[in-house]
Amino acid sequence: MTVVVLLGAPGAGKGTQADILANRLGIPHVATGDLFRTAVRDGSPVGLEARRYMERGRLVPDDITIRMLLDRLVQRDAGNGVILDGFPRNRPQAQALDAALAERGSRVDRAISIEVPSDELVRRLSGRWVCKASGHVYNEQSNPPRVKGRCDLDGSPLFQREDDEAGTIRARLALQLSSLRDVVGYYHDIDVLRIVNGVQPIDDVTAALLAALSDDAAV
Ligand code: AP5
Ligand code: MG
Repeated sequence: MTVVVLLGAPGAGKGTQADILANRLGIPHVATGDLFRTAVRDGSPVGLEARRYMERGRLVPDDITIRMLLDRLVQRDAGNGVILDGFPRNRPQAQALDAALAERGSRVDRAISIEVPSDELVRRLSGRWVCKASGHVYNEQSNPPRVKGRCDLDGSPLFQREDDEAGTIRARLALQLSSLRDVVGYYHDIDVLRIVNGVQPIDDVTAALLAALSDDAAV
């Protein structure tokens, strides 16, 4: 089982890169943000609860988040591994993940932090568009779709996320960066952390991630 954790601030490019890596490595991209957005869309109890936090830019409580993620990890397609995007977001989540993996004789093979300065994060999130069918990610400036408002890959309409409104972007950056630093420290301390510069073209970030994955034969 190969477990890769992508870390980074809101807008760092985790989702963009996790999709590409999932295709390259043949393991699923599991994003707690996507799981929550699906639950919100379905109007499930988890979705109703999560939405109260997401629309304020806050982290959803650990009990809900950890249970949802662990349920996803036991699904069949995750048997050979996963690319985790947006989880863990704090130390208790990192510890819960370690405990669940240890039960299967597994561990986090590599955690990679994609680093991008705050002014660039705000620019990226303000210009982001996401496809309705599968969450493919675009950007007005850096990664526009071929046809305005339509996904290149499946033709579905593009929308802007509720939490990409200017005030919520500011709240997410203000409220979430210190726990991100904690998680980065956690993986540094257990010696699986690598850092990648996220301020380069998407393909170059992918190349840097693949290099970080093959270094010391982590994966
Ligand atoms: P989540 O969906 O995880 O959002 P996030 O962490 O804020 O990250 P984003 O999805 O906004 O950014 P990204 O890094 O994926 O960047 P992207 O690739 O899209 O979480 C949403 C909410 O759910 C949280 O706020 C919280 O409430 C809750 N939640 C989720 N997980 C949780 C957890 N574990 N615990 C508790 N609560 C949780 O790229 C951004 C833009 O930049 C795009 O437009 C893209 O095209 C562009 N771009 C990408 N790469 C580049 C590049 N190299 N150069 C230029 N532009 C680029
Ligand atoms: Mg994302």
